[in-house]
Amino acid sequence: MKKTVSTFQRAKENHEKVTMLTAYDYSTAKLMDEAGIDSILIGDSLGNVILGYEDTLSVTMEDMIHHTAAVARGAKEALIVTDMPFMSYQASVYDAVVNAGRLMKEGRANAVKLEGGASVCPQIKAITEAGIPVVGHLGLTPQSINAFGGYKVQGKSEEAAKKLVEDALAVQEAGAFAVVLECVPEKLAALITEKLSIVTIGIGAGSGCDGQVLVYQDMLGMFSDYVPKFVRQFAGVGEVMKQAFTDYKKEVGEGTFPAKEHTYQIDDEVIEKLY
Ligand code: KIV
Repeated sequence: MKKTVSTFQRAKENHEKVTMLTAYDYSTAKLMDEAGIDSILIGDSLGNVILGYEDTLSVTMEDMIHHTAAVARGAKEALIVTDMPFMSYQASVYDAVVNAGRLMKEGRANAVKLEGGASVCPQIKAITEAGIPVVGHLGLTPQSINAFGGYKVQGKSEEAAKKLVEDALAVQEAGAFAVVLECVPEKLAALITEKLSIVTIGIGAGSGCDGQVLVYQDMLGMFSDYVPKFVRQFAGVGEVMKQAFTDYKKEVGEGTFPAKEHTYQIDDEVIEKLY
């Protein structure tokens, strides 16, 4: 059955954990859907793990729509949440509503995610009023990497922790149905989870959140540029892939691939007439 915003709300009420993973293509989305993952996020981490940028800032609306549509074709049951890329919502409420609409209409997402607290609440309110479900994103918000001066844990001082709690409440008040907490101390994330009636989804925020999200290349051991402390590699798929590529190169070189069973045949009579 298709997961919806109500599935998230019910999970919170029943103290059941919500699972979310990122995906950027049809076949991966299909596998996650078949595994019963509740929600698939087309993160703008697309910029890092798929497009090879050093940050998420260059990701465009066209990139997000293209990959969201591919994921949406692969996932039948998971709730599809897609990231609003850098500068698709910050400049104005109008931009935010128009671009959220494009992600739903052209990308076939079920919800959009955007980064920031009180400062983007007018955008969250307007998007939800347009009938588009919104996920907030607080703590380490990678689109603000230049303002943060690096990928650091957020909310450690009393002032910063208080601001995070206030932002989480503001995002909820503005109409978000869930909020991602990234790189937030465990106890602070648990406190925010307790205070909110909407779902919190943690990444580097401990087990006290209502759900968890990971970038799939990280959890499968496929991305080695950097591995954050909060990542657990559930499989070493990167090594398996590298070995398969090596074996392929060797067998093609030796002429053992393709073998008889991989080739198509033609009657000798036909071939002889061509000489
Ligand atoms: O872009 C992304 O993948 C994300 C997750 C890390 C939450 O926003």
